[in-house]
Amino acid sequence: MYAVIGGSGLTQLSEFEIVRKDVMRTPYGEPSGVLTLGRLAGRDLVFLARHGYGHTIAPHEINYLANIWALKEMGVEGIISVASVGGIRADLYTGSLVIPDQIIDHTHSRRNTFFEGADQPVVHIDFTHPYTETLRQALKVAAQTIGEEVFDGATYACTQGPRLETRAEISKLERDGADIVGMTGMPEAALAREADVPYAALAVVVNPAAGKGSSAQTVSMEDIKKTLDVSMVKVCKLLSAFVARTPN
Ligand code: HPA
Repeated sequence: MYAVIGGSGLTQLSEFEIVRKDVMRTPYGEPSGVLTLGRLAGRDLVFLARHGYGHTIAPHEINYLANIWALKEMGVEGIISVASVGGIRADLYTGSLVIPDQIIDHTHSRRNTFFEGADQPVVHIDFTHPYTETLRQALKVAAQTIGEEVFDGATYACTQGPRLETRAEISKLERDGADIVGMTGMPEAALAREADVPYAALAVVVNPAAGKGSSAQTVSMEDIKKTLDVSMVKVCKLLSAFVARTPN
């Protein structure tokens, strides 16, 4: 059984038949909301809304440890993280779907490891390739089966938020090699690795990053909302195609 963590604009999956809702408690506190178990494309699936079902939890307030712990506890085979991002690289047009392969972490003041505290050993996980390659490829193949374009490989810069970036910050991220920018990719990806749960992300470009293209002067929240509405239909189709290809 796979899990989907839904980001902004994805608090539920179309065609997902809900079977049960589990309230989970973890040693790290409560996850962002109930874990919704159900069936999609004939397969079991767990869904969790990263920002809560009423979209009230800001990126820096998300209990990433509780979310990953709860999914691990459910015994999921892997996690697909859906996240909206700003596009930095010019060919990543608004509305495009991206499967990132690298991360640059600019977050701070977020609890970012399971391995801390007096009773915990010091553990340094390998994070050379932050996403699970087999899952990345499975997402790509799922997209091909439904004829949906996806960009394979991109560097995701994770900012602290909740504010968007300045033009200069985006220029710097671009010079650093970042292709997309979001606020929730970390520490989520690292915690999944610590928990030994396969993890890949499906990023949806919902706006040109600050200073780019139509965001030259301002980033339009209204445009973001419109893009989210259209793009999440594609995302749901892709997720259905993905789970349909996983063993029952
Ligand atoms: N920056 C950071 N996070 C985002 C953006 C952005 O431009 N768009 C959606 N999430």
